Amino acid sequence: MTNRMHKPKRLACLYACLLCVTAPLRANPPSEPQPAQAAIASAHPLATRAGFEILAKGGNVFDAAVAVSAALAVVEPSGSGLGGGGYWLLHRASDGFETMIDGREKAPYAARADMYRSRPGASTDGALAAAIPGMPAGLAHLAERYGRLPLAVSLAPAIRHAENGFAVGHKFHKLLGSRQPVIRRFPSASRIFLPKGKLPEPFSVLRQPDLAETLKRIARSGRDGFYRGEVAEKLVDSVRAAGGIWSETDLASYRIIERRPVKGAYRGIKVTSAAPSSSGGIVLIEALNVLSGYDLEKADETARKHLIVEAMRRAYHDRALYLGDPDYGYVPVERLLNADYAAGLRSTIRFDKALPSAMLAGEPEQNAEAANTTHFSIIDRDGNRVAATLSINLPFGSGFVAAGTGVLLNNEMDDFASSPGTGNAFGLVGGTANAIQPGKRMLSSMAPTFLENERGVAVLGSPGGSRIISMVLLAALDYAEGHDPDSWVSLPRFHHQYLPDGIQYEPGALSQAEAATLAAKGHRLTALTERYGDMQAVLWNKKTRALSAGSDPRGEGLALVRP
Ligand code: DON
Repeated sequence: MTNRMHKPKRLACLYACLLCVTAPLRANPPSEPQPAQAAIASAHPLATRAGFEILAKGGNVFDAAVAVSAALAVVEPSGSGLGGGGYWLLHRASDGFETMIDGREKAPYAARADMYRSRPGASTDGALAAAIPGMPAGLAHLAERYGRLPLAVSLAPAIRHAENGFAVGHKFHKLLGSRQPVIRRFPSASRIFLPKGKLPEPFSVLRQPDLAETLKRIARSGRDGFYRGEVAEKLVDSVRAAGGIWSETDLASYRIIERRPVKGAYRGIKVTSAAPSSSGGIVLIEALNVLSGYDLEKADETARKHLIVEAMRRAYHDRALYLGDPDYGYVPVERLLNADYAAGLRSTIRFDKALPSAMLAGEPEQNAEAANTTHFSIIDRDGNRVAATLSINLPFGSGFVAAGTGVLLNNEMDDFASSPGTGNAFGLVGGTANAIQPGKRMLSSMAPTFLENERGVAVLGSPGGSRIISMVLLAALDYAEGHDPDSWVSLPRFHHQYLPDGIQYEPGALSQAEAATLAAKGHRLTALTERYGDMQAVLWNKKTRALSAGSDPRGEGLALVRP
């Protein structure tokens, strides 16, 4: 298993690792009745509908996941796309098989640890910020290995939306507005996203004919439609002409990796989540392990929040210290997920006082991380599940479109810890485990997650950069307290990520009295003016045998349950 590798790997070995698909993880086949309906929650109504369209055509949950991912790539280009990557967490009901498709982007082989030093903006804006995309390979792999339908069928809704256009929403308008200065620098991107030089108004129609052509090539030729041939040539030429460092080898050698999801338990709930190269599952389970020593339901509200924050602080500290691409260095997964290790962390938590982050033993050689992305959750009528979090990093990624492809490239290189002493766009710090190396995957916070106990099965996740994990943590605790998706997606959120050392909280997440009590314990508090996240969640309630679904009220998504 990749996460048991103990030594840094050299490139030759890396190739070997990338070619291997890890053994299936088998659990007992389920004995419970299945939902008999399907539920899909995604960040865009057209993507949710694309999923149901494919289910109605006889597709399984994995075909639906291809359709939803591809539709999001077209209708929510701020969050994810063919030029990005992500993680698909899969559960097959017939035999309990579970796996995670790691379609995370990789640094180009010409990347160097110091490539962004003294180059402000270079890791976030333009062609040099873009890592080698994993999304097209993920879609092809999902369809070929797990789907029932040809890729051409599952990609059809996305192709239609790219060709015929879709109506721009308020969120699109706002996020595009925020990235407009960068997009304006690149004619191939402005032509698509700023037609006639202007920000498209909400409800105007945006067409992406070049993207439709690229999708059609993938529909015809699978991964080779993107990573080889005409599209690959255009990508490389365009990136290099704009100061980037991609090569055709980078594209041709990109491979997804199937990995064993990380597993944990909290109060009888089985937790299954993203393995490295994402930190999502480890940080989530580590925080839950710390919290499992307390009866949070009996604690008063402020004590509960204090304990949750202290657990977040310690788990995010370990993220910064230890986590990175497991194919490039040892990641101590077993230790970080161990209950005794969590008990040790718990023993340093005081009820009356916050522990300043600077007092935690061990400092990463300073570096940090950043957040726009998307998540969708599906359960089908047979109980199969997909949780997928997909990203191009900041809204509209690098703002750079490779000419003639319609593909907006990510700026995921910013998720590496690349400039000592500074956090990334999300203020995250990290050390050598997440330093830039050729061909390496940058550490992610994405946390597509399953929760399961006798009450039911939950599928959930969210965008939000470094805050993804704390959002999923709060939702998991809410599930443990018996609440449903509508509650998980809408509850007011608070967050601590070790550094910066403070609690960030949404309007309504802390009362004045709670804020005062937490401040008296030594917490630094930052009241956010805007809410964050766009959680998409579904629940199969085994007791009532009902499916329910929730789409974050902060976004413009759609959660539907249908026969
Ligand atoms: O992989 C990560 O952790 C980030 N690139 C995710 C970015 C994100 O969620 C932005 N969302 N608002």
